[in-house]
Amino acid sequence: MTVCEYKPGLEGVPATQSGISYVDGQQGILEYRGISIEELALKSTFLETSYLLIWGGLPTKPELEEFEYEIRHHRRLKYRIRDMMKCFPERGHPMDALQACAAALGLFYSKRALDDPTYIQNAVVRLLAKIPTMVAAFQLMRKGNDPVQPCDDLDYAANFLYMLNEREPDPLAARIFDICLTLHAEHTINASTFSAMVTASTLTDPYAVVASAVGTLAGPLHGGANEEVIDMLQQIGSVENVRPFVDECITRKSRIMGFGHRVYKVKDPRATILQKLAEQLFAKFGRDEYYDIALELEQVISEKLAHKGVYPNVDFYSGLVYRKLGIPTDLFTPVFAIARVAGWLAHWKEQLEANRIFRPTQIYTGRRNQAYTPLAERP
Ligand code: SDX
Repeated sequence: MTVCEYKPGLEGVPATQSGISYVDGQQGILEYRGISIEELALKSTFLETSYLLIWGGLPTKPELEEFEYEIRHHRRLKYRIRDMMKCFPERGHPMDALQACAAALGLFYSKRALDDPTYIQNAVVRLLAKIPTMVAAFQLMRKGNDPVQPCDDLDYAANFLYMLNEREPDPLAARIFDICLTLHAEHTINASTFSAMVTASTLTDPYAVVASAVGTLAGPLHGGANEEVIDMLQQIGSVENVRPFVDECITRKSRIMGFGHRVYKVKDPRATILQKLAEQLFAKFGRDEYYDIALELEQVISEKLAHKGVYPNVDFYSGLVYRKLGIPTDLFTPVFAIARVAGWLAHWKEQLEANRIFRPTQIYTGRRNQAYTPLAERP
């Protein structure tokens, strides 16, 4: 076995061969199955994009209608999972609740038939259909309210906002939320997708795969950054404070949330689209108080850190969109998870075909051939 050179964070190390999505970090290009994110955001829907990612091509009209019907039909939660949620502490983070519920779903479908296409299809539908209901249900229950049942008359994005806010959303808000889900659906081998792949490679069930990925996405360096961005904008407080804030971050070598990316060394194409979506919402529902601070932050960082390839990433403007949609800050990352389930499942399916367990090696830096010192003889 040849040992490759060690790369911290596996930077630049191919971990798989995949045909699901393509990113060019220098040109700011993102394609799902060869279709640009700009076209999909403009012309597709999240469910159609999920079908494209998972099954490899755009569905025919009957295929899409069948997929949408199956998703609508499986949105409701198992009563036992709702009962389990009643035991969760109200102050717990919704990502921890989601991880627990995703894993618990596996208890109901424990027979792993990974070679059965029907088992795979059922798992894809159940996870895509039920994850939004889990997020909305925990949010209402932690406020002491009964969760709202899914509304079969509403499409995927509108139904989530309905279950969360207990009222039908404005059509523009629902359409913009659906585009946000498409933008967050997939992004090659990011940390949470890699986590999903490693878990999938042991041939465990897809519910455990998604639970692993949810736990990984929750971190502030990954999916948790969108929540941190709003806290940061609030902490900065005014346009005048932006430049001193950035100078202090640079002096302390601290990371500025919503900026920088392992792959993009230009502005994340998703950030560009999300910024336009935010402005559409501001035009209809009023400007966000933090938007001017965000614009100034992008300007100052472009002056001071562009040479390092530090630009806004997907998490920088998403929070400003979600605030206008009435989504609370600690649900920003669960919303990211709702979308990324599509990408995780696409890579789970692709990993099953690869059928090789992940088991990298290491460069050992510890001691060798040490004698055991009995407790009585230790200092
Ligand atoms: C997501 O991988 C994906 O695709 C993820 C994602 C997806 O769709 O799945 O795109 C979603 O996770 C977006 C990223 C969200 N995270 C954040 O916004 C947190 C802040 N960002 C940083 O922590 C950082 O940019 C990372 C973690 C995103 C990337 O880290 P890297 O690739 O390890 O960056 P690096 O350490 O190689 O940075 C290169 C230089 C360094 O300077 P030097 O040490 O060379 O002098 O750029 C600097 C870094 O200090 N830098 C930053 C910075 N990010 C990088 N400086 C200030 N603020 C930042 N945010």
